[in-house]
Amino acid sequence: MTKFFRRSSLAMLMAATVLSTPALADTDGQPTTATIEASKPGPVYHKEVFTQFAEHLGNGIYGGLWVGKNSKIPNTNGFRNDVVSALKDLSVPVIRWPGGCFADEYHWREGIGAPAKRPVKVNTHWGGVTEPNAVGTHEYFELLRQVGAEAYISGNVGDGTPREMAEWVEYMTAPAGSLADERARNGHKEPWKLQYFGIGNELWGCGGSMRPEFAADETRRYATFVKAPADTKIIKVASGANVDDYNWTETMMRVAGDKVDGLSLHYYTLPEGGWPPKADPVNFDEHGWADTLNEARRIDELVTKHSAIMDKYDPEKRVFLAVDEWGTWFAQDPGTHPGFLRQQNTLRDALVASIHLDIFAKHADRVRMTAIAQMVNVLQAMILTDGSKMVLTPTYHVFEMYKPWQDATVLPIAIKSPYYGKDQFTMPAVSGSAVKAKDGKVHVALSNLDPNQSNTVTIKLDGISASAVSGRILTSSAMNAHNTFAAPDAIKPAAFTGASVQGGQLVVTLPAKSVVVLELQ
Ligand code: AHR
Repeated sequence: MTKFFRRSSLAMLMAATVLSTPALADTDGQPTTATIEASKPGPVYHKEVFTQFAEHLGNGIYGGLWVGKNSKIPNTNGFRNDVVSALKDLSVPVIRWPGGCFADEYHWREGIGAPAKRPVKVNTHWGGVTEPNAVGTHEYFELLRQVGAEAYISGNVGDGTPREMAEWVEYMTAPAGSLADERARNGHKEPWKLQYFGIGNELWGCGGSMRPEFAADETRRYATFVKAPADTKIIKVASGANVDDYNWTETMMRVAGDKVDGLSLHYYTLPEGGWPPKADPVNFDEHGWADTLNEARRIDELVTKHSAIMDKYDPEKRVFLAVDEWGTWFAQDPGTHPGFLRQQNTLRDALVASIHLDIFAKHADRVRMTAIAQMVNVLQAMILTDGSKMVLTPTYHVFEMYKPWQDATVLPIAIKSPYYGKDQFTMPAVSGSAVKAKDGKVHVALSNLDPNQSNTVTIKLDGISASAVSGRILTSSAMNAHNTFAAPDAIKPAAFTGASVQGGQLVVTLPAKSVVVLELQ
């Protein structure tokens, strides 16, 4: 594993301080109040914020999505029906592929043509296991077809060439010509729609260990050769900063900002002092709960600061910030293959997800795409599989509950909440966001980060005439509640009756450690 995180304990301590202390005395012990200002609608909450990331890593692709056409596991053209069906239920808008670190060593020609003739290689990044190249370009677009998602392909800048990248783009998108003919011979006559294209991944690390100046020049060069056919557009995303590397964002925007449409940012929630990941995904106490949620909340500060730099070079906000890798990174589950990054997923992960999705609402003008890492069996996954078995994680349920946020209009929500604290970690107890969905309905999400105390939130509804409310809740008596193949429904959404509309106000009693999503009528 060549992962390199530039984060120090000192930086983490400072971040925790900045996020947590100032308003403590103002709100501690007070009831939670909020105002939703529907009369001042914000930007669109782009559905691409719910993008999923599927890398050739562990069982993220092989076993998790792809079982092959001859498998006994029910499949359609090689992709397992149970997983695809669950993903369709989430309305996954975009799938990012083939990496990650894998992308900067991926050579697309090895993944086309007769499967039996494709080279079998070693996945040098992830576990040193065999990479059969059974899933290549055609199979990826078949997955997109089945799920109903758009493409986001990361190109190889690390050990590839501009020519190789240009030819891959041409192979996928050209309506005519020799590469279009080759595509047709391989079974797909019509060009595919290539919505997003990443100019490498983590060029500061596994993508080539580049300095920002060099990476920015390389981005200009490679992006020049990513050409969309007439009357089409390929949205180009530059490889962005790791965590708080603001110099990277500054340099990329200054040197290459005019050549791309988006700039990425990667931030993983890493409790227990950061890299390398060591926190147990399931066996944790309240300290681990608070540490993790505190780390998740750091995305607010990071997006704020990276956006401020982007504002200097792009005040019109033409270039979007794509937080295209985020989520928890814990120690691997015991007994799993080294380098496969397989981790269980608990109610704590669900809160990490809701915190991120709420914070992305606050920054929806600049954050127009994000991708949780990853879709199946890897890191903060939506879905875990084992052979023919499949289970949905608490994170999946949060993504399902937040579906109305896709392409909705953000409604500003100001929450004044008491603070929840444990040991050195202190944070507002309530996280939330509100949107007006495309059908005109107002939806409100509220999470209670406090694992011990319920919290009653009184929300002023400015510009909303509602007389009733319905909703669902994700919670459990245990902080580490999770689903297993033996008990797949140990934690799942349930009807919520703790909200009412009283005198034009929404009053919600949030149980401890819960995620609630409401619809106003
Ligand atoms: O998601 C796992 C890895 O994390 C990705 O391959 C890489 O981009 C990041 O470092």
